[in-house]
This record gives sequence, C-alpha cells and structure tokens, in this order.
Amino acid sequence: MKNILVIGATGQIGSELTMELRKRYGGDHVVAGYIPGAAPCGKLKESGPSAIVDVTDAASIEVVIKEHGIDTIYNMAALLSVVAESKPVLAWKIGIDGLWNVLEIARAYHCSVFTPSSIGSFGPETPHMMTPQDTIQRPRTMYGVTKVTTELLSDYYYHKYGVDTRSVRFPGIISNVTPPGGGTTDYAVDIYYAAVRGEKFVCPIKEGTLMDMMYMPDALNASISLMEADPTRLMHRNSFNIAAMSFAPETIYTSICKQMPQFKMVYDVDPLKQSIADSWPDSMDDTCARQEWDWRPSYNLESMTTDMLEKLRNKLFNKAALVSE
Ligand code: SER
Repeated sequence: MKNILVIGATGQIGSELTMELRKRYGGDHVVAGYIPGAAPCGKLKESGPSAIVDVTDAASIEVVIKEHGIDTIYNMAALLSVVAESKPVLAWKIGIDGLWNVLEIARAYHCSVFTPSSIGSFGPETPHMMTPQDTIQRPRTMYGVTKVTTELLSDYYYHKYGVDTRSVRFPGIISNVTPPGGGTTDYAVDIYYAAVRGEKFVCPIKEGTLMDMMYMPDALNASISLMEADPTRLMHRNSFNIAAMSFAPETIYTSICKQMPQFKMVYDVDPLKQSIADSWPDSMDDTCARQEWDWRPSYNLESMTTDMLEKLRNKLFNKAALVSE
C-alpha cells in the first residue's frame, strides 16, 4: 500500500487530488501537507492526516516523510503565471528551491515524485498548433522558467540518481471546489461563477485566443494514472503533454449560453494576461501520453459545462444538498 504526501494540499488542484487519492488508497495513507495560514478544513481535514509542510523548508518535509513512511510525493506547491510575474523571486523559491528539497528527500528516502509542469513551459517560438511533445520551449514568464527547470531537474534526478520522477504539462484546469489564484487561464473558471451568480462576465482575454483547458476530474485521473503507469513503457517522464479541449473565450461563452441564454459577457482585456496567453500553445499534441500510459480525457467542453453549472448551483445555492438530505 502506498503512503502519499501531497504538498500544497489546500490549493486548487491539491485539495481535490488529496480527496481523490484518499478515495483510492484510503484516508490514513494520504497526508495533506499545508502551509500555516492555509490549513485544511471540512472533509479535507476530517478524511485523513494533515501536517504543516513548507516546500521551502526541507526539515518540515523530512519529518512527515519519516513519521508516515511516505513513498510517494505529489509536489503541487507553485505560484501561478500572473502572480509569479509580480513575485519572481518567490516563484523561484517555491518552484525550484522547493523542488530541490523534495528531490533530495526523495533520493534519500526512495520516494516517487510527481511535480506538474504546464502549458506555461512553452513560449512564443513554440509551434502553437498541436504543440509537439518534444519541441522548443523558451518561455518568457517566470512561471514558465520555473516549469522548464522543473522538467529538467526532475529528469536529472531520474537519470543521475534513479529517482522515480514523473510529470504532466497541465493545461488550464477548470474546477469548482477551490478557486485558482493568479493564473492566466482563471477566466475559464470565473466565467462559470459569474453565470451561476447571474452576473455579467468581464473577460480579461481577447476573443479568438485559444488555450488548452481540462476539467479537474481528468487532471486528477491523469496525475494518478501516470504515477501508476508501468515504468517500462515510459519513454518520457518530465513532462508529458496532456490535452482535453482547446477553446477561446467566445466558445466557452456560447457553451454556457446554450444552457443559460440570458448570460452576458463583455471584454476588458488585461494586457499582461493577454501577452502570456498569446505566448502559450493553442492546442497540445498528447500522442505520447496516449501511447505510453493510455491517457484519455473523459470530458469535453459541453459535458464539462453541464457538470460545472450543476456543481456550482449546488455549491452557491445548496439546492441539491437540501434535496438529497
Ligand atoms: N493555469 C496556469 C496559469 O494560468 C497555467 O498552467 O497560470
């Protein structure tokens, strides 16, 4: 049985990943690592152990690894792209100094490590349509610089020390539990909240701007499936392109309008977000992930929209919760 530590367990992906891992491996086998001020609450707190783990403090990681006999680390601590531009030193400290701590501990205690990369690891010179698995990266954001470094350092530890490092390049992740914070793709989450609240949505990204996106259940499944994959089939490790859907703001708007025809959207383009979005792929080619560990997404834009609207109505207005009780 695996014993897992999730670092960044109260973040957008970490909070749902921790719950999914507990469902699959048992609550007691998954430790939720959090930083002071971001303690878990509700089901996340009740369903298993939690501990203060600051990725920038190696000792805080090591204590938990020893105490819980951890053999697998999901290292989800990171600043997203927009916030990393205003805090580049902190982005590097968390993303790379933190990763170094994780990898050194993994080497000493024989742990497997998952550290996500991103569409942000690509840059303006990258082929934008069906971005290949192995291609020019050269990002111009600090977020991207830390993600490319994550890929290289994780591969280095695999080749040099045999540490079992694996990773995916996440598209923008759309979810309804913990909001993202400070990302370029956040608009694709915010638009659903605005629709369900009956508000007009002010879109910070220009019409026609394509970006890769994915619904959270597929992102969780990808992470866990890759960590479960047969290592002899993996030609790549850090990091796999994974893709589910690619859309521009007007496409997601239209998909919501099919169910909520009164919903309104206007544009007020944020120049920083737009320049980041323009430098990222329009769509990624995920053939290698499909071939090497049978990656397949389950959700497309329409099925995601249906599920997002339903979940957010329940969350914001608690209607289904009252019915099912
Ligand atoms: N969601 C991230 C961001 O927008 C990209 O992976 O920063």
